Amino acid sequence: MVAGIASKSPVIRRLWPTDQDQISNHFSRLNEQVRRLRFGGAVSDEFVEQYAGRLIELGSLLYGAFPDGELRALGELRGLLDDWPVTAEAAFSVQEPWQDQGLGAALMDRVVAAAQNRGVKSLHMICLRENEKMRHLALKHDAILHFNRYEVDAELERPWPTPFSLAEEIAGDAKGFVQAILRWPGASAQGA
Ligand SMILES: CC(C)(COP(=O)(O)OP(=O)(O)OC[C@H]1O[C@@H](n2cnc3c(N)ncnc32)[C@H](O)[C@@H]1OP(=O)(O)O)[C@@H](O)C(=O)NCCC(=O)NCCS
Repeated sequence: MVAGIASKSPVIRRLWPTDQDQISNHFSRLNEQVRRLRFGGAVSDEFVEQYAGRLIELGSLLYGAFPDGELRALGELRGLLDDWPVTAEAAFSVQEPWQDQGLGAALMDRVVAAAQNRGVKSLHMICLRENEKMRHLALKHDAILHFNRYEVDAELERPWPTPFSLAEEIAGDAKGFVQAILRWPGASAQGA
C-alpha cells in the first residue's frame, strides 16, 4: 500500500526531546514486518514502546521525515552526543504505506553526512540478509557488505569532515526548520 498524499518535498529535520510523542507514535505505527526488519526479529509492543521512549535519552542523533505533517520515517545514528566514537551504527524505519517514496534514501543521506561531520570513520548499518532494499540503499553509498548467517553488516567508510560537508548539514537543518515553520498549522493563514 502506498500513502496517497506524500509531499514532493517532505520536511526532513533533526528530532529533539520535544518530538517524543511523534517518535513514540512512529514506532507504534510500524507493522510486524517493518519491526522485524528494523530490529532483526519479532519484537513485542512493550519492547517497541520502551525503545522509542529511551532513544533520545540514549544519546542517538535522530532525523525524521514528515511528508504529511506526521513523522512517517526515522533515521537513527547511535553514539554519544558529546563524544562521538570513530565507529557508529545507523538504523532506519519507514512506515509501510510511506515506503518506496524516497524517504529512506533521503534520511540515509542526512544520517551519513551527520556521521561524517562528527568524525565517524566507519558507519555500520546492520540488516537481515533478506533485506534487499536496505542492501541496495547501502550500496548506493558505496558500502562494503559483510555477510554472516542471518545478517548483513553494511559498512561505510567516511572521510573526515570538510567545510562543504559541515555547510551541507547546516543548510539541511535550516531548510527543515523553515519548512516546519511554514507548514505549522495556521502559518499560511497568518502569512496571508
Ligand atoms: C529499508 C527502508 C528504510 C527503505 O526506505 P524506503 O523509503 O522504503 O526506501 P526508498 O524509497 O528511499 O528507496 C528504496 C530503494 O530501494 C529500491 N528497492 C525497492 N525494492 C527493492 C528490492 N526488493 N530489492 C532491491 N532494491 C529495491 C528502490 O528502487 C529504491 O532504489 P532507487 O532509489 O535506486 O530506485 C524501509 O523500507 C524500511 O523501513 N524497511 C523496514 C525497516 C528496515 O528494513 N530497516 C533497515 C534496517 S535498520
